[in-house]
Amino acid sequence: MDSLQAGCCYAEIMASITCFECSRCQNQVSADSYKTVCPSCAGPLYVRYDISALQKTAVRPVEGGNQSMWRYASVLPDVDPVTLGEGWTPILRSRRFAHLYLKEEATNPTGTFKARGMAMAVSMARHYGLKKLAAPSAGNAAGALAAYAAAAGIEAHIFMPKDVPLANYLEGVAYGANVTLVDGLISDCARIVQERKEKEGWFDVSTLKEPFRVEGKKTMGYELVEQLGWTYPDAVFYPTGGGVGLIGMWKAFEEMEQLGWVRGKRPKMIAVQASGCAPVSRAFQQGAKTSQMFENASTFASGLRVPKPYGDFMILDIVRSSGGTVVDLPDEKILASLLDWSRHEGLLLSPEGAAATAAYDFLIETGFLRPDDRVVIFNTGSGLKYVDLIADAMGIRRNEVKTLPQRTPVGGIITPQ
Ligand SMILES: Cc1ncc(COP(=O)(O)O)c(C=O)c1O
Ligand SMILES: [Zn+2]
Repeated sequence: MDSLQAGCCYAEIMASITCFECSRCQNQVSADSYKTVCPSCAGPLYVRYDISALQKTAVRPVEGGNQSMWRYASVLPDVDPVTLGEGWTPILRSRRFAHLYLKEEATNPTGTFKARGMAMAVSMARHYGLKKLAAPSAGNAAGALAAYAAAAGIEAHIFMPKDVPLANYLEGVAYGANVTLVDGLISDCARIVQERKEKEGWFDVSTLKEPFRVEGKKTMGYELVEQLGWTYPDAVFYPTGGGVGLIGMWKAFEEMEQLGWVRGKRPKMIAVQASGCAPVSRAFQQGAKTSQMFENASTFASGLRVPKPYGDFMILDIVRSSGGTVVDLPDEKILASLLDWSRHEGLLLSPEGAAATAAYDFLIETGFLRPDDRVVIFNTGSGLKYVDLIADAMGIRRNEVKTLPQRTPVGGIITPQ
């Protein structure tokens, strides 16, 4: 299925990788096999291309064209994609705020932006001949890995906290992955993968411990600039757990500038966290370069429950050099914004996306942003993947409620007269 699409849509020249480059010590590593982290300092690796060659071959996509993230094939690694139609998601103008745009990632396969990174990582894994992939996940990355691994005929071994949204567990199992639920956080899951991977022969596709998920997620940066007529917005709001999308978008901006696809001032990058798990926000406020482990992390925005992001220093550096900020919101504010957007915009956001909309309200209130600033907010996933967690947060328990009065503010079962 995917190669059929590839045959008709990816005719242009794709980019040859020259090397992987360490984000911390700039060490260059050969790309003749799939690599994890920098062999000298364990820093995350970036995929690098020969930019002067790309300046001759890379082409800005034409209107129409391929309707997935592979429309940017000329700036993506030369690979036969394992695709389920990820990317090229809508950018929606808010009905209430004229300068506010929502990048709606819910339309991706598996209902979240995680599809972009996993489509790329699994495509490259197949390209390099890998057969067994493993990942710890806050939930949605697991679903995406399971789907793309199934499409590629590759084994997926997934470890996630036992209280992830039910949808994440279900999709892992339904796609045929080996799913283990862990009584702990994503950091505990990561430790298990780390301990077992060598013996089991797994390749670890953990957040920022391999270079290609960033490469897939960078397409969000290309898309938002293209959808705004090849211009930058003033600010981008990104719900930040591990920070892959934020790091990917910043890479995209750098590449686009080198290719002459966009000019002007880059957007302020606004990293958004939940107050129940806000290691990056804390570090930002303290002026620190890295974060500390956030103890007793807890929030219904499960994708933000990353107590110590591996790439914390990259997130902090990008936010600071963009003139942006880091904001964290309590779950009550996140839920209120989720319901606000449901009722006034017709969009059931993920809790992570609603953290970003709540952060927008907050930064307008504080005056950090003005209402006429052009802003893009990422709704990173569909609220429908969180039915159990949102229902819980709203106090809806269908099976316990037998009958309720006809007019009731939240749900319940009504007995017809
Ligand atoms: C819906 C959603 N939004 C945001 C995030 C955070 O993503 P990142 O790790 O790129 O910061 C996640 C991670 O699981 C997620 O599932
Ligand atoms: Zn290094």
